[in-house]
Amino acid sequence: MKRTTLFVLMTAAAGVLGGCAGMNQSASEGGNPFATASFQSILKNDFAPKGQAKLDRLVQTKQQYECSKYEYLGKPMPAEMSKKLESEAMAGIVYPKDGKFLGDWKAGLKIAEDGKGKQWSDNPDKPSGGNCLACHEMVKNDPSQGNIGPSLVDYGKLRGNSEAILKYTWGRIYDSAAYNACSWMPSFGAHHILTEQQMKDVMALLMDPKSPVNAN
Ligand code: HEC
Repeated sequence: MKRTTLFVLMTAAAGVLGGCAGMNQSASEGGNPFATASFQSILKNDFAPKGQAKLDRLVQTKQQYECSKYEYLGKPMPAEMSKKLESEAMAGIVYPKDGKFLGDWKAGLKIAEDGKGKQWSDNPDKPSGGNCLACHEMVKNDPSQGNIGPSLVDYGKLRGNSEAILKYTWGRIYDSAAYNACSWMPSFGAHHILTEQQMKDVMALLMDPKSPVNAN
């Protein structure tokens, strides 16, 4: 998805919110229209649990709650709060148990291309994809890739593979909110989207000199 499309979608969503009763009550909820009883009841009435998509998905995490509140208010989040959310996310990062960050880049490429998983119609016993290419350019000169996130072409070539870079990249994939409280990147580890092995494979895709990210 391209950045412009996302903004159009977000604007459309804000328009819908602006028209509902939740807005009037939002002041008493610290300005978050998603938290009002009326908005929550609209959600509960309009969504039905199906397959693995249960209604607990409507419950925002503290980070999602605070980020949508400031997004809605059109105000920057106070630095103290973003720092706190980032350090909480950082404390939750689980690094590879065997100390090895890199798996198989070929498996990583399939994961980066795969946008399946977590929907009610997906088999919950099958591993989910990472859908990295929906937001990032990872392979040079392929116009089908998205640009919501920065280009990752030549990632390993440009950054090297020091312990610090390996840890940073793992942390980004595990829970991007550790580096940017209101990051738009899914928290692949913290929200159990990818397994430890899958994250290692995607890491190898970014780092391996032979992967299409670096060999181009
Ligand atoms: C929904 C969009 C989205 C998806 C899907 C996504 N990312 Fe991101 N990613 C971003 C954004 C946006 C940033 C920029 C930083 C931020 O906003 O926090 C980013 C930043 C990064 C960074 C840090 C880049 C830097 O210059 O330091 C890495 C590495 C990364 N993403 C890897 C991945 C990998 C690997 C996947 C798939 C497993 C993935 N991303 C999936 C949106 C996404």
